[in-house]
Amino acid sequence: MTTVIDGKQAAASVVEGVKAAASDLQQHTGIQTGLAVVIVGNDPASHTYVSNKAKMAKHCGFNSQQFTLPEDTAEPDLLALVATLNTDPSIHGILVQLPLPKHFDSEKVVQSILPEKDVDGLNVVNAGKLATGDSETGLVSCTPAGAMLLVRAIHGADLSGLNALVIGRSNLFGKPMGQLLLAANATVTIAHSRSKDIAAHGRTADILVAAVGRPQMVKADWVKPGATIIDVGINRIEAPERGEGKTRLVGDVAFDECAKVAGAISPVPGGVGPMTIAMLMANTVTAAYRAAGKIAPKF
Ligand SMILES: NC(=O)c1ccc[n+]([C@@H]2O[C@H](COP(=O)([O-])OP(=O)(O)OC[C@H]3O[C@@H](n4cnc5c(N)ncnc54)[C@H](OP(=O)(O)O)[C@@H]3O)[C@@H](O)[C@H]2O)c1
Repeated sequence: MTTVIDGKQAAASVVEGVKAAASDLQQHTGIQTGLAVVIVGNDPASHTYVSNKAKMAKHCGFNSQQFTLPEDTAEPDLLALVATLNTDPSIHGILVQLPLPKHFDSEKVVQSILPEKDVDGLNVVNAGKLATGDSETGLVSCTPAGAMLLVRAIHGADLSGLNALVIGRSNLFGKPMGQLLLAANATVTIAHSRSKDIAAHGRTADILVAAVGRPQMVKADWVKPGATIIDVGINRIEAPERGEGKTRLVGDVAFDECAKVAGAISPVPGGVGPMTIAMLMANTVTAAYRAAGKIAPKF
C-alpha cells in the first residue's frame, strides 16, 4: 500500500512544537519571539501568503509585526526598514515577501537581512553554512527544510545507501534540498533543464524530489518501485471537469499514476505546501533561542 504523506499533519505537529518552545522561552527569559513580515505593493497572492504567515505567528504566540509598504516605495526606504529591524532586539526573524515590484534589486534586499534573522534562509551566509554542514548556527530555507522532514518521516534521519534525485536546481529549493539530502548521507543527483534522460535517473532513485514548476512532468515510468516521491511543484491548471473556467492545483508529479508505483508520495495540495509556513515558524523560534544564548530545540 502506498503511503500518502500528510503534510498538514506533519506541519501541525511542527507548529505545536514551536508553540511549546516559544512559550518555554518566554517563561524562562521573558523573551517573546518576534517575527517581522514586510510586504511591498498590492499583489493579492503575496498578501494572502503574508496574512497566513502573520496569523500562524500569532497562533505560535509570537510578537507578529507586519509592515505594508506602497508599490512605489523607493529601494533605500525598504533597505532602511530592514536595517531598523536588523537592530531591533524584539525582532528575531525578518521576512521580505517575494517577488518585490520590478524596480527593486531583490537580491540586494534579501542579502541586507542579518543572517541571524534571515528566517527564509536565503542569505548567502546561511546558504554557505548549509553547504559546509553548520546546522548549529545557520538557518535553512523553509521549503527544503520542510520537505526534508517529510523524507525523515519515511526513512529516518540517516539516508545511508539511498539514492536521491532532486529535479530542479534553484537557490530557493533544489540546491538546499540537495545539500540536506547529502548531509543525511544520501547519494544525490541534481537534475535540471539541461539534464539528459531524467527518467533514467528517476528509475534508480529511492527518493525522488520534484521542484520544477511543470505540471505533472514526472510519470510513473520515471519512478523506481517503492520509491518515496516528494512533490514540491505548485501549478494551477484548467479543470473543465469542475465547470467552465475552473482551475485546480497540481504538482510536478502525475500523482495518480505515480502513486501506483511509489512506496510513499506527497500530494499537492496538502504535502510540502503546509510545511513551508511551519518551518518559517520553526526558524523564527530557533533564531529567538539563539539570540537569547540558549540552545534551540530541533524540529
Ligand atoms: N511552498 C511551496 O510548496 C513551494 C516553495 C517553493 C517553490 N515551490 C514550487 O516548486 C516549483 C519549483 O520552484 P523553484 O522556485 O525552485 O523554481 P525555479 O527557480 O523556476 O526553478 C525551476 C528548476 O527546474 C528546472 N527545470 C525547468 N524545466 C525543466 C525540465 N523540463 N526538466 C528538468 N528541469 C527543469 C530549472 O532548470 P534550470 O536551472 O536549468 O533553468 C530550475 O532549476 C514551482 O512549482 C514552485 O511553485 C513550492
